[in-house]
Amino acid sequence: MPRIYLDNAATSYPKPPGVTDAMVRFANSCGASPGRGSYSESQVAASELERCRLQLNQLINGKNPNHIIFTLNTTDALNLAIYGIYLSQQKLDSSRRLHMVTTAMDHNSVLRPFHALRDFGVDVTFITGDPETGLVDPDVFAAAITSETCLAAVIHGSNVTGTVQDIAAIADRCRSKQVPLLVDAAQTIGHLPIDVEAMGIDLMAFPGHKGLLGPLGTGGLYIRPGLEGLLEPMRQGGTGSISEHPYQPTEMPDKFECGSHNTIGLIGLSEAVTWILDQTIESLWTHERQLIGQMIAGLSELNGVHLLGPKGIDNRCGVFSIVVPRHAPSLVSEMLERDHGILTRSGLHCAPFAHQLIGSSTSSGATRLSLGPFLSNKDVDYAINAIAEVSRPPRVVATV
Ligand SMILES: Cc1ncc(COP(=O)(O)O)c(C=O)c1O
Repeated sequence: MPRIYLDNAATSYPKPPGVTDAMVRFANSCGASPGRGSYSESQVAASELERCRLQLNQLINGKNPNHIIFTLNTTDALNLAIYGIYLSQQKLDSSRRLHMVTTAMDHNSVLRPFHALRDFGVDVTFITGDPETGLVDPDVFAAAITSETCLAAVIHGSNVTGTVQDIAAIADRCRSKQVPLLVDAAQTIGHLPIDVEAMGIDLMAFPGHKGLLGPLGTGGLYIRPGLEGLLEPMRQGGTGSISEHPYQPTEMPDKFECGSHNTIGLIGLSEAVTWILDQTIESLWTHERQLIGQMIAGLSELNGVHLLGPKGIDNRCGVFSIVVPRHAPSLVSEMLERDHGILTRSGLHCAPFAHQLIGSSTSSGATRLSLGPFLSNKDVDYAINAIAEVSRPPRVVATV
């Protein structure tokens, strides 16, 4: 039986050729910490990190590679942005009542920090979306912004329904109200083209280990040049620079990066992004769009399978959640693995409000299948046939 990995929304697998080799090569032949010594190994490590920043900046059309802050994952980047803004606003005026806006489609990595900040006196508005598609109306988003709003956060691609929000329109509304927009690109970066300039993105949190095809333990936050003063660093510590100074440096990226880096992981990420740039993001997206179309067509034809979210290929990325009313989502995942070697994820996917909105929270969530660049039409066909089998009613044998 094959093993077909359809959980790329959690982390991507496999990684492009060369990623682990580059990590092992660095670990065996260099191994030094970047920017921590004048010897050549440390300088080599520093130039590797610089290369990684340059490539990421190229991929997203950023203005300055030093405005890409390396983090542990998306969650870490989102916390850095959310608490960074909260702390800087507190520093400016601790008596001011703050307000933040996000959406019901967002992930717990945004929802939980926002809920936690309520305990510190921050007002939060959760915008709802369309119960069929999960799309958020940019005008409804704009209407929630008040004179006290200091941050708006929105998910780009849903990790439940695959819904892709109209970031450019939301960013436009935020810009006109002078509110910074934080975008969670966990499910879109590396899958589809993102141009932070053209889309008007102020802050963008992203994983290195999902669509960018790097190893676990990597991620980043892009901060639009000029906005770095809006964020207070959440952490302070050694940067290898101006050590005589008692405060955190204000230079980028040191302002937000302290302590030793996950250099081995970032070397793997650099190799993975090189692969993406060589393939071109446009051609990877063309391939994924084709698989998305095939998956929607195949799943829509199955009786006894309910596909959540957008039913067309527009406003959509390669994440699919299905409900098979006959079985609990966890049983569907179990049968897909046991009988067909297909790896999926069931449950609420750390997005309880999204499941509530689209009506799948009562069925304890859904079974999720998510695409990656190494999957083929044959794999998608195989998955559709397997789901057809799992959802088919048991045959009744007549006894005479
Ligand atoms: C939309 C979304 N945001 C945030 C996260 C958290 O990502 P990470 O595991 O990189 O922290 C995920 C992970 O599944 C996600 O799907």
